[in-house]
Amino acid sequence: MRVLGIETSCDETGIAVYDDELGLLSHTLYSQVKLHADYGGVVPELASRDHVRKIVPLIRQALKDANTEIAELDGIAYTKGPGLIGALLVGACVGRSLAFAWDKPAIGVHHMEGHLLAPMLEENAPEFPFVALLVSGGHSMLVKVDGIGRYEVLGESVDDAAGEAFDKTAKLMGLDYPGGPRLAKLAAKGLPAGYKFPRPMTDKPGLNFSFSGLKTFTANTIAAEPDDEQTRANIARAFEEAVVDTLAIKCRRALKQTGYNRLVIAGGVSANTRLRKTLAEMMSSLGGQVFYPRGEFCTDNGAMIAFAGLQRLKAGQHEDLTVKGQPRWPLDTLPPVFYF
Ligand code: KG4
Ligand code: ZN
Repeated sequence: MRVLGIETSCDETGIAVYDDELGLLSHTLYSQVKLHADYGGVVPELASRDHVRKIVPLIRQALKDANTEIAELDGIAYTKGPGLIGALLVGACVGRSLAFAWDKPAIGVHHMEGHLLAPMLEENAPEFPFVALLVSGGHSMLVKVDGIGRYEVLGESVDDAAGEAFDKTAKLMGLDYPGGPRLAKLAAKGLPAGYKFPRPMTDKPGLNFSFSGLKTFTANTIAAEPDDEQTRANIARAFEEAVVDTLAIKCRRALKQTGYNRLVIAGGVSANTRLRKTLAEMMSSLGGQVFYPRGEFCTDNGAMIAFAGLQRLKAGQHEDLTVKGQPRWPLDTLPPVFYF
């Protein structure tokens, strides 16, 4: 089975062709980072318009790169939610319409399911069951995963998502959008400077997160310290360590609670080197394994949508003829896929 995947939930237009026997045949990505940089964050209307401009040329490119004729496609998968409604509707309109015109089934994919399954694009793919730590710009959650669509959300952020905390803190430090990777780069130059940053919500039981207090703590630290490059790098490091430690503590708890020994990390923040290293060390000390996607598939991309959509199309699931976007969509309401 061969599926065209379309991702347009936020500020990246990602298109891919995935084949369940041959693997990933092509993927193209256009990032709108430059477009939004002047505004310090994503401007939804500009995002939608840019998806409109880029989506068709990128689909042509992805099909060409995959050496795939329309007749060879067995279905079309597009991100249906969660995300920015205007941006989602561009992918949904184009995906649903092409599927109608080409007489193929279409499936609307949950963006976070795409992230969650992204490590399965790699050779060393995780087997079920596992615990997934999903950390993106819009969501942070810990999920008990027993199969595709068999998800139990164990905990989530009560305020800012992990990526959002990185982005907002980066802004406080005067770093440009998108702040997360820039803050991580600055933190790599930081030295341990004895700061005592909090590890929010780790002193109480439970698997929820809260990152907004950490952002305020960082703002107060910046205000109280000298304004030089090394001090900023030291503060960035202390902030990053606090986020990573907090996530690691919660992952350990989730593994203990479920009794599982496989951990998957995915979503934009899973590209963070300190997070990967800390969780890899933790899992090796626990005698378990950690899995994550290659760097380019941590952040938004079409490959994860093609892959997730294929699993559902293969199980006979598909959309009706209406064009739908779903900006809010709880992950644990997805139907299970049983053929695995
Ligand atoms: O999954 P994603 O591409 O988009 C959403 O679905 O939200 O995640 C983007 C988020 C942004 O907040 C970005 O700052 C963060 O992931 N991010 C990082 C790193 N790379 C991306 N945060 C920390 N360290 C990184 N290396
Ligand atoms: Zn995402």
